[in-house]
Amino acid sequence: MPGARITGWGMAVPDKVVTNDDLSATLDTSDAWITERTGIRERRIGGTTSGLGIEAGRLALKHAGLTGDDIDVLVLATTTPDAIVPGTSATVEEGLGIAGGAFDLNAACSGFVYGLVAAHGLILAGARRVLLIGSETLSRITDWDDRSLAVLVGDGAGAVVLEATDGPTELLGWHLGADGSLRHLLKCDHGGYLYMNGKEIFRHAVRAVIDSSTIALQRAGLTPADVDLFVPHQANARIITAAAQRLGINPERYVVTIDRYGNTSSASIPLALVHALNEGRLEPGHTVLLSGFGGGMTWASAVLRWGG
Ligand SMILES: CC(C)(COP(=O)(O)OP(=O)(O)OC[C@H]1O[C@@H](n2cnc3c(N)ncnc32)[C@H](O)[C@@H]1OP(=O)(O)O)[C@@H](O)C(=O)NCCC(=O)NCCS
Repeated sequence: MPGARITGWGMAVPDKVVTNDDLSATLDTSDAWITERTGIRERRIGGTTSGLGIEAGRLALKHAGLTGDDIDVLVLATTTPDAIVPGTSATVEEGLGIAGGAFDLNAACSGFVYGLVAAHGLILAGARRVLLIGSETLSRITDWDDRSLAVLVGDGAGAVVLEATDGPTELLGWHLGADGSLRHLLKCDHGGYLYMNGKEIFRHAVRAVIDSSTIALQRAGLTPADVDLFVPHQANARIITAAAQRLGINPERYVVTIDRYGNTSSASIPLALVHALNEGRLEPGHTVLLSGFGGGMTWASAVLRWGG
């Protein structure tokens, strides 16, 4: 059976930086409140989901030494599509000249990890190369007069190329979960703005990350002590710290980028992964744990043995 390996990666964020002080100029909030309660210092705002996705995807293809012609399937994880129909993956498909199929995947902030597991499955089913992108423009569904949400969100995209390999597969274990009875906690109706019950989400999120990560690690025959790099969804620095502490993973072993980008939903894990790679924090043979949670609620974890 073919294995799968990540061979390229890239990221894209809008140029426009919006600091906490910028938001405090129009909202009843402060840099101190936002930093202390969320860990966010600034975020990037602008662009379109397709535009950011194309930029990140192009860099990932270039890094893997490939073009769109080489890709059998494009998976675009997004909660903020450009339109309801067609899928935003259609625009990205054209922009990158993807030879194969293309589809959108919406599992809210867990979307990238859902996509990663799906991409491995596609390779098992015979695809040779899959481009997986997480791209979001949460700023477009945010009420900028609502301080409780405006301070949290950011825009961006991250992408990886997965290729079939004769060697062992990178994916050692995974866990996907959902509980639709909690869907009222985070939602956006057609034409409306994002609504979130932050306190309840917080409570469920820490539990979800711990439980889901533990199951994925168990399936891989590993424990948190084996994790070289933990790449969690970036929704709140306090959620990351609480989950990492309970898993016994110290700060040297986890990635935090929320200070720079805020919550970018399904783009947050690939953005954090690409940052870690650019900082040289991952070496071949390292064990990587990715874990996300989001609206639905959904949660998802994957354990990779990094091939490099
Ligand atoms: C949203 C979140 C940051 C709020 O932090 P919190 O510590 O729970 O804060 P609370 O909601 O209890 O609010 C505390 C106070 O700050 C106020 N407040 C809320 N937003 C504020 C802001 N931007 N600036 C200043 N004050 C604010 C509240 O009105 C409240 O005031 P009160 O005590 O007078 O009623 C936090 O709950 C969170 O991150 N939740 C998880 C969100 C998440 O993960 N979402 C993404 C899912 S993918």
